[in-house]
Amino acid sequence: MDRDLKLSQEQALERVEELRRELEKHNYRYYVLDDPVIPDDQYDQMLLELEQLEKQFPALVSPHSPTQRVGGKPRKGFTTTRHLTPMLSLANAFDEGDLREFDRRVRQALLPGETVEYVVEMKIDGLAVSLYYQDGLFVRGATRGDGETGEDITENLKTIKSVPLRLPRFVPALEVRGEAYMPKSSFSRLNEAREEAGESLFANPRNAAAGTLRQLDPRIAASRRLDLFVYGIGFSRGVDPAGHVGVLDLLQELGFKVNRRYQVFKHLDELLDYCHQWQTERFNLPYVIDGLVVKVNALPLQERLGATVKSPRWAIAYKFPPEQAVTRVKNIFVRVGRTGVLTPTAELEPVHLAGTTVGKATLHNEDNIKEKDIRTGDLVLVHKAGDIIPEIITALPEKRTGREEIWSMPQVCPACSSPVVRAAGEAAVRCTGMACPERLWEGLVHFASRNAMDIAGLGPAVIAQLLSAGLIADPADIYTLKEDDLMPLERLGPKSIRNLLGAIDQSKGASLGRLVFALGIRHVGERAAKILANHYGSLDRLMFASQEELVQIPEIGPKIAASIVDFFDHEQNQAVINKLIKAGVNTYHEKEGQDSKHLHGKIFVLTGTLDELSRQQARELVESLGGKVTSSVSRNTSYVVAGKNPGSKYDKALAMGVTILGEKEFKKLTGQYL
Ligand code: IVH
Repeated sequence: MDRDLKLSQEQALERVEELRRELEKHNYRYYVLDDPVIPDDQYDQMLLELEQLEKQFPALVSPHSPTQRVGGKPRKGFTTTRHLTPMLSLANAFDEGDLREFDRRVRQALLPGETVEYVVEMKIDGLAVSLYYQDGLFVRGATRGDGETGEDITENLKTIKSVPLRLPRFVPALEVRGEAYMPKSSFSRLNEAREEAGESLFANPRNAAAGTLRQLDPRIAASRRLDLFVYGIGFSRGVDPAGHVGVLDLLQELGFKVNRRYQVFKHLDELLDYCHQWQTERFNLPYVIDGLVVKVNALPLQERLGATVKSPRWAIAYKFPPEQAVTRVKNIFVRVGRTGVLTPTAELEPVHLAGTTVGKATLHNEDNIKEKDIRTGDLVLVHKAGDIIPEIITALPEKRTGREEIWSMPQVCPACSSPVVRAAGEAAVRCTGMACPERLWEGLVHFASRNAMDIAGLGPAVIAQLLSAGLIADPADIYTLKEDDLMPLERLGPKSIRNLLGAIDQSKGASLGRLVFALGIRHVGERAAKILANHYGSLDRLMFASQEELVQIPEIGPKIAASIVDFFDHEQNQAVINKLIKAGVNTYHEKEGQDSKHLHGKIFVLTGTLDELSRQQARELVESLGGKVTSSVSRNTSYVVAGKNPGSKYDKALAMGVTILGEKEFKKLTGQYL
């Protein structure tokens, strides 16, 4: 449909429907199949067009529209909701014997000549949830609660992008059961950010997922990247799957994310081998599993076996033994992060744990050490939190010899002797030295890292050598390095030197988003950096942004805003930035991957005063992207951009049904926002 024509409500409805179907399809490809077929910005453009149409025709807004994933205001509390069929839990098997016993009981229920087939699935370590679809629409989602009633967490579940808001075909009633979980990568990212911010850490991805789903503000849930695997059906009408494998196929066909890592077994011995195999292989998965679930495939046999009050008799959870090990704390040392946080870390006698050899464990902060009374020389029990981070569960005081030593946080930074401070309400202690060599080293390692300036060959060891040789003292010095400077360094041959200098030179062209991330501003991760680059377009504009202005940007909260202002307030940081600019490092934003002329053929009319752009700037922006600006509204006008106190052009646009953009939307369309 030609977007340049004014749309009647009927035409708008048609286009809205078309956009929703397209967006749902691409959402499915991206979040369920992990196989996108269009670039992100094309998806964003469609979403923007849909947002516009829904704004223009509010009657067309629907809670199941892709625009409504992060909807609503923070709530005061959760209401409870009754499950249509109870949510049972599973009985546990802890070893081969328990599985053999389960198999024996199942076989007792077989009819003469009947055989049994088992489906073995991953047991995802998350939170059981139930999602109810009425007439194909997602209407309610809940936690398990006591099995009969749970908490209504619909808004938070909607933020999980792999959850379909409506089904691709009409189904009268469907109660879907699954496990909401936090992938290992999201968990690490979340805890790293919390550690840097001095906030308490989540013990494992399950707790993090539970904490996220119980957030009263769906925007927080949306930022934490949960996912959902579905594995069963509670109540249903209008579907008739054959066997449990049929249930999984049906759910997949209806657009849900189903874990395809399941296997069907006819022989128990093969099933047992499979269970053993996953005991070690599980560490390679991107999510945590705490066992496997064995289910009878045939539905008639399931029915015959029935359930106890607590759990079905046709399924059992095979739980992996917890991966723990005993080892000794050789030493406790303090690491200084790039934002100055002092993190105590235990050096351990190396021990094999969950697939790797562990020689260090984070101790998080001094409160944690005090609470657990961990001393140097102690024997301790270690595990990997969420399969990832080695952590000390407990000290074993009964094994003490008397030679153990109580540890306390140093009063000065171990690297630069500057005083350390602990802010009220924070668990973290920070070094106050701006020129602290360890902070500097961490900061430089971060600056050169793959997701930041991506300088291949400039790793931690080379940076340490450059620092101790006095060749660099800040990130900008990297760009002054010459061949002669590098020759005396250890383990750097002429070829490596040439490659390194080439990589340094190439990094000057890194995107502004990467540069902002590379600066290592507290709380500014990759995503925030990209948003800031998109919004400001250049580093010098970002440098002069005020706190009030920053918090207006979607996803930039007061904490990030304060940290940005504070960072650019420091003269030392300003000096580094000036040096970077002089060295020729790119400080301007070019939207990555976007068709630079994506407004080709679009006709804009500007009316009213924009807050952040002059008329001239807005015109140049449109023209630079291939669009045209004209002075009067006509049938050919694609968009009217309305600022404060708009004139009669605004009324005309309304009357003609031309899409009206506010300043924010205009900036989004022109790539000033993400
Ligand atoms: S089937 C009647 N399959 O494990 C219960 N559960 O107590 C049907 N879980 O928190 C559960 N992965 O949510 C089933 N593939 C899977 C699972 C799974 C994780 C969770 C479930 C519940 C616990 C079982």
